[in-house]
Amino acid sequence: MDKNANLTIGENTFALNILEGTESEKALDISILRKQSKFITFDDGYGNTGSCESRVTFIDGDQGILRYRGFDITELATNSNFLETSYLVIYGELPTASEIDLFQERISKYAKLPNEVISAINAQPKNSHPMGVLAAGLHALGGAYPDFCTNNRKADLERFDDSAALIISTMRTIAATRHRFLLNEEVPDFDSEERYCKNFLSMMFAKNSVSEEMPDSVVNALDLIFLLHADHEQNCSTSTCRMIASGGANPFASLAGGVSALWGPLHGGANMAVIGMLNQIHDAGDDGSRFIESAKLGKTRLMGFGHRVYRNYDPRAKILKAACDNALEALGVSSPILEIARRLEEEALKDPYFVERKLYPNVDFYSGIILQALGFPTDMFTVLFAIGRTPGWLAHWKEIAETGKKIHRPRQIYQGSTLRPYLSVEKR
Ligand code: ACO
Repeated sequence: MDKNANLTIGENTFALNILEGTESEKALDISILRKQSKFITFDDGYGNTGSCESRVTFIDGDQGILRYRGFDITELATNSNFLETSYLVIYGELPTASEIDLFQERISKYAKLPNEVISAINAQPKNSHPMGVLAAGLHALGGAYPDFCTNNRKADLERFDDSAALIISTMRTIAATRHRFLLNEEVPDFDSEERYCKNFLSMMFAKNSVSEEMPDSVVNALDLIFLLHADHEQNCSTSTCRMIASGGANPFASLAGGVSALWGPLHGGANMAVIGMLNQIHDAGDDGSRFIESAKLGKTRLMGFGHRVYRNYDPRAKILKAACDNALEALGVSSPILEIARRLEEEALKDPYFVERKLYPNVDFYSGIILQALGFPTDMFTVLFAIGRTPGWLAHWKEIAETGKKIHRPRQIYQGSTLRPYLSVEKR
């Protein structure tokens, strides 16, 4: 294929380079278009804009394909676990036995929070949302490890292995510390022999110690949710993280920005909104059909449905749908809202409104039901998404720190007032 495309504007023709990715994705390189032509491109919401070249994750939204570093998500979900997949996402290869041991050791080493970070977490106003507390906790954590966050790329990269392990480890400790503080309870001691998720579940829920019985099925369900969220290329929060990193900011600041971006209901906050929606349908005695009708009229949205990139079934939702049945059975929980979710999905997938717009369940549609069955309060669901997404954000911070040359800085089409004179207050 030709390596150039020609763009003709009026009398002038401009040659644009064609970039091709390893999966044959193609892009027009317009990076010098403005210089040549004085035109910028306009793409509200960036739906058609490639912001970078990346080696972390591949998605084919039409076919419902998701791969981390070349490995299919279903294969990883079947054979790997969250920590091994985190290593893969961050460092690009599956770890050897000694590499994963070292990674796990580092993560265990950093599980405890410094007292000043605990104080900062618990000093947040009582009604603060757990996502706000998580972002504040990350900033405080950076403050407690100043050598890890110098805003000097070379120095921050040299400490990256430690800062990555520290952040992965303490995202769960920050979440559990706040949860226990609100209940006026102590976080049980960490057990370095136990798995990442088992320790986290114990920090959250155990009455006495981490060695308390925690069924494998419960630990596995949470591990799977984290693994499925580990990365998702240039989504809203990851792009935010990369944007912050492009200015030279350290990983703690960049991830705190990612957490804030994830919070919204159209992004990570959708997992909370799904439960709200399912409860609302349940309480209204609706079988889901009334809700679907109002979504079709644009009065509401079917939360957990639709995706900017997937125009097919989100492969993560497919895996979680099956996991949901298993987890609820293992926990001995019967969930009336799971029935509603199933019915909504069935109805939506044959309704022309959803079919024509290619709206399918996304990762958030079933994850909330499992998290609720595991006992997490609804307002913590997005925090769990953030814990799962942490390796992805770290991988993208690393990619920018290693390869990024420019600060990210989009342009705009200005539509405001043209030049006008200042008027003193009496004349306005
Ligand atoms: N329910 C009903 N209608 C929908 C939905 C939905 N969930 N999603 C999109 N539509 C409709 C829109 O109204 C629009 O219809 P129109 O063409 O008649 O105006 C059409 O589908 C296209 O919608 P857009 O908003 O342009 O699609 P976009 O790609 O920008 O949005 C998004 C994607 C934000 C995920 C959207 O589908 C949505 O709001 N879904 C619900 C929230 C959700 O589940 N978010 C989680 C996403 S996954 C994640 O971040 C982890």
